[in-house]
Amino acid sequence: MRKTAVVTGASSGIGAATARRLAAEGFDVVAGARRRDRLDDLAAEVPGIRPVTLDVTSQESVDELAASLDRCDVLVNNAGGAIGLEPVAGADVADWQRMYDVNVLGSLRLTRALLPRLIESGDGVLLMLTSVAGLVSYEGGGGYVAAKHAQSSMAEVLRLELCGEPVRIVEVAPGMVHTEEFSLNRFRGDSAAAGHVYQGVPDPLSADDVADAIAWCVTRPAHVNIDRLVIRPRAQAAQHKVHRV
Ligand SMILES: NC(=O)c1ccc[n+]([C@@H]2O[C@H](COP(=O)([O-])OP(=O)(O)OC[C@H]3O[C@@H](n4cnc5c(N)ncnc54)[C@H](OP(=O)(O)O)[C@@H]3O)[C@@H](O)[C@H]2O)c1
Repeated sequence: MRKTAVVTGASSGIGAATARRLAAEGFDVVAGARRRDRLDDLAAEVPGIRPVTLDVTSQESVDELAASLDRCDVLVNNAGGAIGLEPVAGADVADWQRMYDVNVLGSLRLTRALLPRLIESGDGVLLMLTSVAGLVSYEGGGGYVAAKHAQSSMAEVLRLELCGEPVRIVEVAPGMVHTEEFSLNRFRGDSAAAGHVYQGVPDPLSADDVADAIAWCVTRPAHVNIDRLVIRPRAQAAQHKVHRV
């Protein structure tokens, strides 16, 4: 019997790599995001992927996805991202609301909608894609740091509340990952500023590196819960300690 994995934010970066990887591991993958054309291309290329138009900020959209599922064994709450690097004193409230809505409430909407299916499966895995920004604060991190801390807390609370149920709660917290769009979105489309983030860093993580870690976490035996996996490139010893050449 094939298991079903739902991956949000599967139209680019870590989500797309995770959809590919879980399909290769033998899952039926439901790949959700707003940009349907990109999902259709992914599904045409990789057998076992079903594209679904999904906006995690819309309850209606999340409900539609939930209603389309026969089963759900794995949920990867990956959709998210950062907007801006302004100090808190100069922050735009709308940016913070947007980051909270996508990263935190988006994960909450998916969790509420699919948790019954995960439990029903008898061995469900809910994976929360947070960030080292959810563990350590940094200047300019503002709303993103706050949102990722909230997601990380949600994972901890869920693990406590669901103790005794057949569902594992896993948090994967990556450091610097060079994806095509994350920094571009953070810098509102300024590609020079986005490129500067990774400048001189020998081998930041790739989306495939994180997908590999996610695949490992969700394919452990049912009794093994990886509470939190922190993954950084070798060049990033800590948030403020990045080796550049
Ligand atoms: N890159 C890094 O350095 C890094 C480090 C640590 C953690 N992370 C986290 O990893 C996750 C993926 O990041 P990434 O680097 O792969 O970024 P990315 O390439 O920008 O991908 C973000 C994905 O989220 C989707 N998304 C955004 N808003 C959405 C919405 N309202 N509904 C549904 N999907 C939505 C996007 O698809 P559409 O636009 O098509 O909807 C896209 O597929 C995020 O949660 C991010 O915070 C990234």
